[in-house]
Amino acid sequence: MVLNGPNLGRLGRRQPEIYGTTTIAELEQLCVDWGRGLGLEVDFRQTNHEGELLDWLNQAADEGWPVVLNAAAWTHYSWALFDACGQLTAPLVEVHISDPSQRPEEFRHSSVVTPHAVAVVAGHGIDGYRMALEQLAAAI
Ligand code: DQA
Repeated sequence: MVLNGPNLGRLGRRQPEIYGTTTIAELEQLCVDWGRGLGLEVDFRQTNHEGELLDWLNQAADEGWPVVLNAAAWTHYSWALFDACGQLTAPLVEVHISDPSQRPEEFRHSSVVTPHAVAVVAGHGIDGYRMALEQLAAAI
């Protein structure tokens, strides 16, 4: 699964100077293609609803599916997300388009996902998803 959290549905229109001009639909297609090249079948999803993301992570835990996760702002404060990630049995790779640790807002400088992740890819734009899928393929 490649899971995306809040506001990422507006990729391409949302602060393009930070997040670029690739739309979420284009990103989905890229991830499917990159995944296929790595022998991975990608199930790509985005939600603005925290409970929905938690349900998907619970499903990944039940099915033993590996996950690439860009939890967006929830990364920085959701203890429910921390608990959901902690249940995963297959590898989890954290990805961010920007590098939150280098951004001025202090709230971006911590992640509840990182303690559960086998790798973190941040600051490489959309290409970071390709790198995250490569990390995932190497970890499974
Ligand atoms: C983000 C970084 C987060 O701090 C932010 O809240 C996002 C996107 C990224 O991909 O760079 O929504 O996860």
